[in-house]
Amino acid sequence: MDIKDLIVDDRDRGVFRVHRSCMTSAGLFEQERERILDRCWIYLGHESEVEAPGDYRRRTVAGRPLFFIRGKDGQVRVFLNSCPHRGAMICRRDAGNAGVLQCFYHAWSFSTDGDLIGVPGEDAYGPHFDRTEFCLKAPPRVDSYRGFHFVSFNPHVEDLVTYLAGARDYLDLVVDQAEEGMRVVPGSNRYTIKANWKLLAENSLDGYHLLPTHRTYVDYIAGFGTDDSGDTVSARPPGAAKALGGGHCVSENISRNGRPIARWHPIFGEEARERISLVRRRLVEKYGEERTYRMADTSRNLLIYPNLLIMDFVAISIRYIEPVAPDRMEVTAWHLVPREESGPALATRLDSYLTFLGPGGFATPDDVEVLESCQAGFRATEAEWSDISRGMLNPSPGTSDELQMRGFWRQWHAHMQGRNTTNVQDR
Ligand code: FES
Ligand code: FE
Repeated sequence: MDIKDLIVDDRDRGVFRVHRSCMTSAGLFEQERERILDRCWIYLGHESEVEAPGDYRRRTVAGRPLFFIRGKDGQVRVFLNSCPHRGAMICRRDAGNAGVLQCFYHAWSFSTDGDLIGVPGEDAYGPHFDRTEFCLKAPPRVDSYRGFHFVSFNPHVEDLVTYLAGARDYLDLVVDQAEEGMRVVPGSNRYTIKANWKLLAENSLDGYHLLPTHRTYVDYIAGFGTDDSGDTVSARPPGAAKALGGGHCVSENISRNGRPIARWHPIFGEEARERISLVRRRLVEKYGEERTYRMADTSRNLLIYPNLLIMDFVAISIRYIEPVAPDRMEVTAWHLVPREESGPALATRLDSYLTFLGPGGFATPDDVEVLESCQAGFRATEAEWSDISRGMLNPSPGTSDELQMRGFWRQWHAHMQGRNTTNVQDR
């Protein structure tokens, strides 16, 4: 099938369909690597993961082994995790601190800024041996926005801020919630899903599945009752789904379930009420009612195209999807918290995160099971199309419509055909 025919996008009839070979074909998976993962900005990690000089983190990003490390000068640098001598992976642990990086194969050693500083028996190489030819290599492009570090393997990619388009404002909404900046809680949860990576990009934005798939969670929260005193949301319009340009999309909800940032709910316990209202007051003083409302009373699932999600609802989580094979992805999730939070406030937030998104939470196991079920269902190749038409004729799409998923797919389809841009005025 020709790539241009993989998606049916009929705006007059309100029909949007994706051919299921997009999730199963090895050929398309290879083309995605070249046309998407090798061309876009891809998330690497958060600045707070490497606070002290010498702190490092190892990652696999768009198939490449990488690590990032904070140098003695305070700067974060990113390197390909492949020894310039003969290729061994220099960084052999996921996290740690090092003053010098020594390769375990022939013991060449490197400074934290990537210079080759030690070669056992160096005189055997003769007078033309030049250490500067063997520095650690960085990916072609490296940049960060408000603590979020990205890399690109495309030397000609646009600058990161331009690339982020309308998603930038939503990242600001996350970072501005903290008084002293955000930090990643040490540790992560990592899991493999036997399904195509795009299914999780879709699912993370899919409001339509919440009630049927996560009924247990919805009932559990409802069991705590609601807090309508000082109601700040009932007169507001319902949530919205938006395409933000460049394939980035958001589904934004009114939060009736409470947010550890500045919206109390009975599940947090009576003792948290005063503390949360103090945070809210601080936010109103600093940003005004309207922006505080957006931070505290709405929640959002943000997709930064192609494979990063910021889930800013019960708590804040960063979810990175690494495509591994047409029918396999590896997911890593981190928990992002305001630096100033500790003690009971932090405990409340961690608990909210784990209850819904943790490995044994109410949501993650459901979603893993459902995505693996879709992937298994794709073996019935006679059923060729998946439908993502919901709300396509709705002039102001809601969060259980599917505009946000179409925005992702339209950008994917444009990239796969060698085009670069999509229209923000999606529907
Ligand atoms: Fe690293 Fe030889 S491969 S020192
Ligand atoms: Fe879900």
